[in-house]
Amino acid sequence: MTGLTVRQIDFDVDETDFIWNPANPAFSVLMNQITFFVVGFEKYMCRVMRDAEARIADPAVMEEAVAFRRQEAIHAQKHNQHARGLIAQYPALQGVLDKTLASYEEVYQSYPLEYHLAYAGGLEAIFTPFFRMILDHRAALFGEGDANVASLFVWHFCEEIEHRSSAYDVYNHVVGSHWFRIRNTGAFQKHTRGLFDMIKLEFESIVQDVPAEAYSDNPLGQIPVWAQLRSALGVLASQFPWHDSVNQPLPEYYDEWLGDWQAGKDMSQIYGKTTSTT
Ligand SMILES: [Fe+2]
Ligand SMILES: [Fe+2]
Repeated sequence: MTGLTVRQIDFDVDETDFIWNPANPAFSVLMNQITFFVVGFEKYMCRVMRDAEARIADPAVMEEAVAFRRQEAIHAQKHNQHARGLIAQYPALQGVLDKTLASYEEVYQSYPLEYHLAYAGGLEAIFTPFFRMILDHRAALFGEGDANVASLFVWHFCEEIEHRSSAYDVYNHVVGSHWFRIRNTGAFQKHTRGLFDMIKLEFESIVQDVPAEAYSDNPLGQIPVWAQLRSALGVLASQFPWHDSVNQPLPEYYDEWLGDWQAGKDMSQIYGKTTSTT
């Protein structure tokens, strides 16, 4: 097991701009989509992990499941804070959050625990190759962005790398069938894609005082094609039977971020452009 650290960091994301990185409006929108998505998804995962605990017999798996749930609960809480800051500026965005939460409530009520654990394990496995690509190209994506928001996202992505195999381990312990997980991959990917599309469409109709390219540009257009291909192949491979994220190549930045955390640096302002408050 991985000995996860549960970190509480005070991010100042109550009043950040919707386009928090003016050098990359489309990427700002994509990360805002993640914020609204994460509040629903990670609350759902916390609920699922709590349900799974009754069926975990191995103390090491239990320890991992509890630490994993605690990390995810803090992620949901901080992204909720970010979403609230955006809702304060565009009150109609409350409806987007409500729709996301309602959609996860419906999934939770409609399927058994086995499905939820497959969903959690499968989606978490996708995160490692995708967030590795984002962190590898952090200068282009986050460098000119508001440090409050950029630091929130690099924290979240580093912790996703850290607990990359937790949900998979819980799934294997409680359910154990690779084929059940693979069989349901299409269904949960369709659900997450649907939510991402819904959130973006709602943004487009509610938040209109942004540059036109915010909704039309490729948010990952600044990432070289080879890196996008490598990430896409990693995402595909992450759903193969017997794939285990624990063995995946990690972004170099993770070690740097962890070193900064261990050195006691202010992680709430660790990346991006800080604005003087004096
Ligand atoms: Fe998370
Ligand atoms: Fe996660």
